[in-house]
Amino acid sequence: MEQKGFKVAVVGATGAVGNLMVKVLEERAFPVSELKLLASARSVGKTLGFRGSQIAVEELVEGSFEGMQLALFSAGGSISKKFAPIAARAGAVVIDNSNAWRMDPQVPLVVPEVNPEAALTHSGIIANPNCSTIQMVVALKPIYDAVGIRRIVVTTFQAVSGTGKRAIEELRTQVSDIINGRETAPKIYPHQIAFNCFPHIGPFLENGFSEEEMKMANETRKIFGDAQIKVCATTVRIPVIYGHSESINIETEKPISAEQTRKLLEAAPGVKVIDDPKCAAYPVPLDAAGTDDTFVGRIRTDPSAENGLAMWVVADNIRKGAATNAIQIAEILMNRGRL
Ligand code: A2P
Repeated sequence: MEQKGFKVAVVGATGAVGNLMVKVLEERAFPVSELKLLASARSVGKTLGFRGSQIAVEELVEGSFEGMQLALFSAGGSISKKFAPIAARAGAVVIDNSNAWRMDPQVPLVVPEVNPEAALTHSGIIANPNCSTIQMVVALKPIYDAVGIRRIVVTTFQAVSGTGKRAIEELRTQVSDIINGRETAPKIYPHQIAFNCFPHIGPFLENGFSEEEMKMANETRKIFGDAQIKVCATTVRIPVIYGHSESINIETEKPISAEQTRKLLEAAPGVKVIDDPKCAAYPVPLDAAGTDDTFVGRIRTDPSAENGLAMWVVADNIRKGAATNAIQIAEILMNRGRL
């Protein structure tokens, strides 16, 4: 008997995020009648587990999407640029985790806690924002709605899983090389990542910012639908495997106290406040890893600015920052009868 549910393709299923997309579909009991796992020709012959059975990975080709209703993409920008329109033409709704379509005015950029309605305006492709942007806007949305936000200054501390599975291997190999007294050399990153950090995520642009930093600025404005918000980001790679941390400093339109902010965030969807610094209680990436919430702590008034507020925000970058956010978007479509 045919199982009830949707025909779902995962593009990049063997990668760090794609693999987790498969796991999150299972965890959230998303109704899937057929799952197609797509990757490069290198992965043909591999299988991945889903609901107790093993599914063979297939090579991504133009005909891969016939009959598919939902296509979750996480195989990099150039694959999305080429194959997302092909999947959409074949009748699938594409939810794309790359940056290929995020700033396209025809493509909604969606964080379910922030702008769920935007998902319903799609014409075949919906973009999942950058991982650092997602956790920042989830934490800031309740404040934005309550008192407005004029300016955001953010510094990120980003895990290597955001770069993909080869970067996770690079960190592990370098740590092992160093503690065993062996020479080590960077392959993926411009510098050694073990026992180090560098303010360099993505290529640098003419204006001196990195691509990642400009994504945080541009995507935040698009998601909030507010071209006036000023954003200055510094994005830093650190030797953590899962979980991005962010030091966020904002200037609100109207005043709000730290206590009022804490109350607002405690009631916000997808947010958990951990804020008792005297007991060393604040969010850390090791605790956020493997969860779907955005954790906020160290909420305090910034006396150096008018209506200034500072906080610390942590989330699992490949769950809420990627796979979970994508599947929550699919759930919105499904619940509104739009899949
Ligand atoms: P593969 O494992 O076959 O290389 P990550 O972000 O963790 O590095 O993973 C990238 C994902 O994108 C992997 O699933 C990878 O498949 C997939 N991918 C990379 N290049 C291609 C390609 N040319 N066609 C299809 N999938 C690709």
